[in-house]
Amino acid sequence: MSDRTGGRYDGIKAVRNISYLIRYNGGMNEVLLNHAFPNKKNLQIVQGDITIEKVDAIVNAANSQLAHGGGVAWAISRRGGEIIQRESKAWVEKHGEVSHTEPAYTSGGNLPCRYVIHAVGPVWGDGDEDKKLADAVTGSLRVAAQLELASVSLPAISTGIFGFPKERAARIIFSSIETYLTQNADSSLTDVRLILYGQADAELYLSFWREYKK
Ligand code: APR
Repeated sequence: MSDRTGGRYDGIKAVRNISYLIRYNGGMNEVLLNHAFPNKKNLQIVQGDITIEKVDAIVNAANSQLAHGGGVAWAISRRGGEIIQRESKAWVEKHGEVSHTEPAYTSGGNLPCRYVIHAVGPVWGDGDEDKKLADAVTGSLRVAAQLELASVSLPAISTGIFGFPKERAARIIFSSIETYLTQNADSSLTDVRLILYGQADAELYLSFWREYKK
């Protein structure tokens, strides 16, 4: 085919196709950054939907009652099937309300992960939010290690319905993950993926990471 680009037409078309493939990505989540710590543990920043993560466990941004009515909790519960809400209810009946420091866990139901770890982040305005968020993140990683898992994906806990400011949350989430991975070299946990929903959030967290690592 002749074109007015002097033979560059196919190249331009190919680039367009590649960028379409990256955007569409076959319904897969996209790794934007992989950071390997000196002890070979990895933190990945990923754009996508946590409910399709093929990892040992995903973390849910839950409330203390494990009533999964909105946000990512609702998405996890809907895709995972009613077993997730049923097991969550049973957990609360047995152990009481879930605290920031001690996340609960259930099976993954129909999700491609084995477990869902239900972490309770702080509601912005409740007081001592930074510590409560750090506790929720660290607690999730500790539960994953107690279950002897290697990979876990977590969302940006508390930054949706609970209203925690994103940049402040990003620093706490990054530092909690880094501290846990570097201080627990012997744990089974090797891969932690932070899943950001939507391109805007993903780009925001990527730039927060670069700031954080300066
Ligand atoms: N995959 C990844 N992240 C997601 C997804 C998804 N499918 N859906 C939403 N998110 C993101 C949001 O964009 C937000 O950044 O998860 C983050 C946490 O948002 P929320 O789900 O609102 O969680 P949180 O702010 O911790 O509020 C918890 O909301 O759903 C209820 O039962 C939950 O009462 C609890 C409260």
